[in-house]
Amino acid sequence: MDVTQAMKQRKSIRNYLDKPVSRSDIEAVIRCAGLAPSAINLQPWEYVVTYGEEKDRLIRRLKKVHAMKAASCGPGTAEPLPEKVTNRSRNALKIMKPQIEKLNLPFNQFIEQGSCSFYGAPVGIIVLMDKLFPKLRYLDIGLSVSYLLLAAEEKGLSTCPIGLITEYGDDIKDVLNISEEKDVLLAIALGYADETAPENDVKPDREPLKEILTWYE
Ligand SMILES: Cc1cc2nc3c(=O)[nH]c(=O)nc-3n(C[C@H](O)[C@H](O)[C@H](O)COP(=O)(O)O)c2cc1C
Repeated sequence: MDVTQAMKQRKSIRNYLDKPVSRSDIEAVIRCAGLAPSAINLQPWEYVVTYGEEKDRLIRRLKKVHAMKAASCGPGTAEPLPEKVTNRSRNALKIMKPQIEKLNLPFNQFIEQGSCSFYGAPVGIIVLMDKLFPKLRYLDIGLSVSYLLLAAEEKGLSTCPIGLITEYGDDIKDVLNISEEKDVLLAIALGYADETAPENDVKPDREPLKEILTWYE
């Protein structure tokens, strides 16, 4: 599979088969994440893989803390976003909601519970960065995560980036014994997609080129 094909077909998957992912495949995907470029080659990313009983233990804690704190997916901005930007989100919801309704679950519950349980994926990845680095290095982390998502796609694996549970970074660090010196920036579900699940039959569209590109010549 070429890179363009992987980019075009990748989508976030929110229901996974009960099928294990081999350790060598997980390592190959993380190795690709480590190939990303970074400012002066600092490579500020760190990945923690949770699997089996350890992943289940983490999920139990996330569900417990979520029941108390109830973080939700929002833009996280202090100011309201322009209508044009908000519409991108609305359009994604418009195509997702009818699929989720087929599950007889309230939409928010599906996203929140699903995010806290890696949507049933066999692998839950936690993305860390040492607090020593300035926040600008989040850019490098984003690049590395993109490599990871595309490498997974090439292997026939699926993913869902999960930001919601970073609200519970301290709990994640506690369960996994991760140093206080690290920030939890993202989680990623990794596994084989259940292609028959209605919630996976969703592919939010993107803005046309003219909306994201300006030429000066
Ligand atoms: C940084 C980041 C955080 C995200 N957090 C969540 C999340 O907490 N829960 C979830 O279900 N999806 C989450 N997503 C997935 C987005 O909703 C998804 O990427 C977006 O709707 C575009 O859909 P696509 O990935 O299928 O192209 C996140 C994606 C990114 C990049």
